Order: sequence, then structure tokens, then C-alpha cells
Amino acid sequence: MTSGTLSSDLWNRKTFAVVTGASRGIGQAIVENLGEKLAPGSLILLISRDGTSLTSIQQDLQKRNSSIEIEIGISDLSTCNEANLNEIFDNVLSKRKAESFAHALCIHNAGSLGDPSKRCSEHGAMDVCTDYFQLNVASVIVLNSLFLQLFANVSKTVVNISSLCGVVPVSSLSLYCSGKAARDMFFKVLAIEEPNIRVLNYAPGPVETAMRNQILDDTWDSSLCDMFKKGPVLTAETTAKRLMHLLTHDAFKSGDHIDYFDEDPVPEQT
Ligand SMILES: NC(=O)c1ccc[n+]([C@@H]2O[C@H](COP(=O)([O-])OP(=O)(O)OC[C@H]3O[C@@H](n4cnc5c(N)ncnc54)[C@H](OP(=O)(O)O)[C@@H]3O)[C@@H](O)[C@H]2O)c1
Repeated sequence: MTSGTLSSDLWNRKTFAVVTGASRGIGQAIVENLGEKLAPGSLILLISRDGTSLTSIQQDLQKRNSSIEIEIGISDLSTCNEANLNEIFDNVLSKRKAESFAHALCIHNAGSLGDPSKRCSEHGAMDVCTDYFQLNVASVIVLNSLFLQLFANVSKTVVNISSLCGVVPVSSLSLYCSGKAARDMFFKVLAIEEPNIRVLNYAPGPVETAMRNQILDDTWDSSLCDMFKKGPVLTAETTAKRLMHLLTHDAFKSGDHIDYFDEDPVPEQT
């Protein structure tokens, strides 16, 4: 048995969900889907740097579903420290107890590409590399640790938004590939350390977002640009729906890396 919960049960439980990078792109689509699915009394905490976008998404979600609560936490995850992240959780949990939720879900979605105009030999600036790995790896580990401690007595699911680039090396995306590989391995270790926590590394496929446009605009590798232009492209909504489907059926092995294009063990129409 690979699943830790009854699949049909997931969306019926009062859930605390935190989603990083919720201001746009895939993160926004994920929170919109969660807003439709979560049980009454659930809460979604949206995190990014952009308070204006988060507030507008918060108001929109709240209009569509008044039975759940939406909170926002503004943070630059490339420069924050553990105290800043603690404060975000404290602000939300000061008004309710972690144990009042039946399930806690953490979706690590925020991410950046690094500069795709640079080759491996051109990443000589320590501060740029440090900021990159703080946002894409260190802040993920620290936020995840706070989440696990705060919800120690609650059933938990953790999703790392990964990428094919965490598995396959891609020229011009060296920081991105190495950051995604590090994240995947961290969450694989989490899965073996904590068999009671459901852990998923989900690679969303090529998605029409600002990040994809940055590759097309800035990569030094014209063959990569051509490949992206000729290849399939998904909407954020399509890939967010697949993630919801994977969580609903809960049939993945904890710690697995599952790509949007992987064969679906539970086809959508069944
Ligand atoms: N698009 C694709 O084809 C694709 C493919 C595979 C994997 N992914 C992964 O999917 C995830 C979402 O990507 P996306 O395509 O939706 O990208 P996007 O549109 O560029 O969104 C990135 C999100 O990350 C947040 N973020 C970036 N820097 C941040 C910082 N310093 N502090 C806090 N938040 C920050 C942004 O929020 P603010 O700017 O508001 O802070 C934004 O909400 C990423 O992990 C990405 O690697 C994307």
C-alpha cells in the first residue's frame, strides 16, 4: 500500500494549506483549485513578495468560496530568515490552533530560473549563487521544517514543485537544474525519514508562464529555445488540475518524482 490516506477523504477534511509563489503562474492556479476543493473551515496561506497580487487573489478566492479562509504572507524567500518565516505562521496560527485542522498541506512552488544567458563557466558571483540557492533550496528546507514542527500532531502532505530539469541536465539552466535536483533529493529523504507524511515531487511539464518566457527570451542556447517553441505547452490550470488529481487519488509512492507526462496510474475518466 503506497497511500497514507483514503483518497476520497482528502478534500473532506478541514485543511491548513500553505502555497509559496501563489501570486501568479502555476502557484496561482494551484490556489484557485484548492479554493474550490477544500472543506469548509479550511485555510489557505498564500506566500510571495507581491502583496498587491496576493491581496487580489485573496479577495477573488474569498468571493468564490466564503466557507474557507485565505491569509497572505509577504516574504522575499531569497533574503528571508527563519524568524521572518516563523512570524508569517505565527500571525496566522495566533488566531487558531494547528491541531484544529485535520490535515496540513504544504506546496513548495516558488522558484526562479537563474540567468539562462550564462554558461556554467560564467556563474562567478558568490552573492548571485547564494541568493539563488537561498530562494530555491534553503528557504524551502527551512519553511518545510517550520511547517513540520507546527503541524507535528496533524496528518500532513508535502508537495515539491519540481521539474524535468531536476532529473535531466539542460544547457543554460545549470542553477535551475541543480536547485531542482537538490530539492527532489531533500524531499526523497523526508519521505524515508517520515513514513507517515505523504511527500510528492511533482514536475508540472512545460507551462505557459513568465518563467517559460524568460527561457525563450534569454537562453544562450538557440537549440533549447527551438525545442521549447516546437514542443507542447500546458496552461497553469491544466497542470494544477493534474496535481489535484494526483493528490485526490493519493496513489503515488511517497517521495516519488512524478511528471505531468508520466502515465497516470488512475486515469482521469475513471
Ligand atoms: N513554467 C514552467 O514551464 C515550469 C516547468 C517546470 C517547473 N516549474 C516550476 O513551477 C514553479 C512555478 O513556476 P511558474 O512557471 O509559475 O513561474 P512564475 O510565473 O515565474 O512564478 C514564480 C512564483 O515564484 C515566486 N517567487 C519568485 N521569486 C520569489 C522570491 N524571491 N520570494 C518569494 N517568492 C518568489 C513568484 O512570486 P513573486 O514574484 O510575487 O514574489 C511567483 O509567484 C517553479 O518552482 C518552477 O520551477 C515551472
